[in-house]
Amino acid sequence: DCLTARKIIRLPGLIDVHVHLREPGGEEKEDFISGTSAALAGGITMVCAMPNTDPAIVDGDTLNQVRTLAKSKAKCDYTFFLGATPSNAELLPSLAKSQNPVVGLKMYLNQTFGTLTMSNFDDWIKQFEHWPKDLPIVAHAEGRDTAAIIMVASKYQRSVHICHVARAEEIFMIKAAKEEGKKVTCEVCPHHLFLSEEDVTYIGESKSSVKPPLVKKSDQQALWANLDVIDCFATDHAPHLLSHKHKQFCPGFPGLETILPLLLTAVHEKKLSLKDILTKLYINPRRIFNLPDQPDTYIEIDLDETWIIPESLPYTKADWTPFAGRKVKGKVRRVVLRGEVAFIDGQVLVPPGFGNEICPLTEVDRIKEPIRITVPEICADVIQELKLNDLCESD
Ligand code: DOR
Ligand code: ZN
Ligand code: ZN
Ligand code: ZN
Repeated sequence: DCLTARKIIRLPGLIDVHVHLREPGGEEKEDFISGTSAALAGGITMVCAMPNTDPAIVDGDTLNQVRTLAKSKAKCDYTFFLGATPSNAELLPSLAKSQNPVVGLKMYLNQTFGTLTMSNFDDWIKQFEHWPKDLPIVAHAEGRDTAAIIMVASKYQRSVHICHVARAEEIFMIKAAKEEGKKVTCEVCPHHLFLSEEDVTYIGESKSSVKPPLVKKSDQQALWANLDVIDCFATDHAPHLLSHKHKQFCPGFPGLETILPLLLTAVHEKKLSLKDILTKLYINPRRIFNLPDQPDTYIEIDLDETWIIPESLPYTKADWTPFAGRKVKGKVRRVVLRGEVAFIDGQVLVPPGFGNEICPLTEVDRIKEPIRITVPEICADVIQELKLNDLCESD
């Protein structure tokens, strides 16, 4: 009621440019239904799905296979990355430029989960020789490989997006490259912003395995000190079952249902602004990945609701979270996707197959369609509101 005024705000549906939904081949960890439900519950209405599945998404057949699965199962909108291999550089551009294009090319330069690691430098070059200049390349590039891949992109006079930046030296290299005018962008994950090596003791060694690993406090401080260098926040939602993590190399955390509450808590703590959230989870993802507007799509967030992250979250099949027990402030109340209430107060309402594959904008479209933020005004029964316009005027 009016005595307990709550700050409810509307934001555009958020975009997570880095998720692993595990289909095909890892359905016990996640599938399109569970993963996209988790996205909606987290306030995310569009996800870019990674190709390190089983089989990996590396050619026309595997792309068709994952498309068929997603079409009947996804609840939020989605788009796919193709995975680079030592042998598919010549074949990928036709898939990139087809009637039904993908969002970009993913290159795994370091050992991580799945079979797509490319350790040979000349295999990187082959991909840069062939992949269209105007379409995104994203790279898992740790440590010195960050510097190497920025240099390669620069040689080919094209952009590169560095995934899950975690270490001080990585963010410093990216900052330096940007200052030189190189076309590099990057994302940072909540687990590198909110967890560090110091948390490994209570989370447990195998449970806290992630790539890049949890970093030193000094690395984490470097990320916070360089927020302006960070283009996107992305979850790297990488669900694994604990039973698997205890036995094998299964790096990664589920993240879709916790990213926003964690970031909103940082807003309360004045470490971040709402505008940072809007910029790094909506405007920059759209700009960097050529993503179109989702019409009649927005989320409502209660900025004042305080809650404790439970041992496991409602929708992801990963039955655990490294953030369990954390007190957070801020909760997703409602998600409207293309005019339908897709999520309200804990319940995902839309059926499997409601999600659409997103077709990235072509170069011509991009010029015709500048990024405009269209979020309906909050309804009159909300006591205290913070309009999006106020956010955008604040600097
Ligand atoms: O922690 C990670 N998990 N990092 C990666 O690069 C891959 C991901 C996965 O697919 O499990
Ligand atoms: Zn009231
Ligand atoms: Zn990665
Ligand atoms: Zn990943």
